[in-house]
Amino acid sequence: VKQEDLKGIKILITAGPTREYFDPVRFISNRSSGKMGYKIAEAALERGAEVALISGPVSISPPEKLHLFHKVETAEEMKNKVNELFQWADVIIKAAAVSDYRPKHKSEHKIKKSDEEIVIELVKNPDILKELGEKKGEKILVGFAAETDLPEGNAREKLIKKNLDMIVLNDVTKQGAGFEVDTNIVKILYKSGKIEEFPLLSKKEVAHLILDRIKAILKERA
Ligand code: C5P
Repeated sequence: VKQEDLKGIKILITAGPTREYFDPVRFISNRSSGKMGYKIAEAALERGAEVALISGPVSISPPEKLHLFHKVETAEEMKNKVNELFQWADVIIKAAAVSDYRPKHKSEHKIKKSDEEIVIELVKNPDILKELGEKKGEKILVGFAAETDLPEGNAREKLIKKNLDMIVLNDVTKQGAGFEVDTNIVKILYKSGKIEEFPLLSKKEVAHLILDRIKAILKERA
């Protein structure tokens, strides 16, 4: 029985996409539905954790009994909210698909159609997770990686670069894995070098798996 086995643990979860505007009504975003992060929040609450959820724009409803639920649109807004809650959290799970780039300029007015072609210049967004990794201390940091090529190598590199305890990798080219769907096929890579591979599972099952691994890390440290 897993009930209440995460009692007293404070978990901060980010979920969903971000929107990066180039005029008041237009933006660059991605296909993230928020389902994976919301399922982790739901599973953590069932297990007695205190859960804060910071979400990009999604069409699903948050679970009840959250410690805090905050909606954001841009990576900048997400960064500010995550930083506000950083001290509070024991565990941070960054399931959000944060846009790596944003338009350099945001027009105050809706861009008018003309016969000219237009170019949208993109600049880099801050890497929220990487910044957390630099000040992580005793906190447990979990990242996600959605890859279309060289999945394991890329994920291992991120794990190290961002100073994470573990990274959950989904190959978004596989049927039943990644964005929008209710299932996922994941590999979990650990700081120790260990890799675990899992079959097709529901996102709720994946959520519990991730929480089991976090619990194991907490136990090891205690
Ligand atoms: O490097 P990449 O963006 O693929 O890394 C994915 C992980 O980093 C995810 O956990 C995502 O939430 C996080 N991330 C972030 N800030 C960004 C980009 C990604 O926190 N600007």
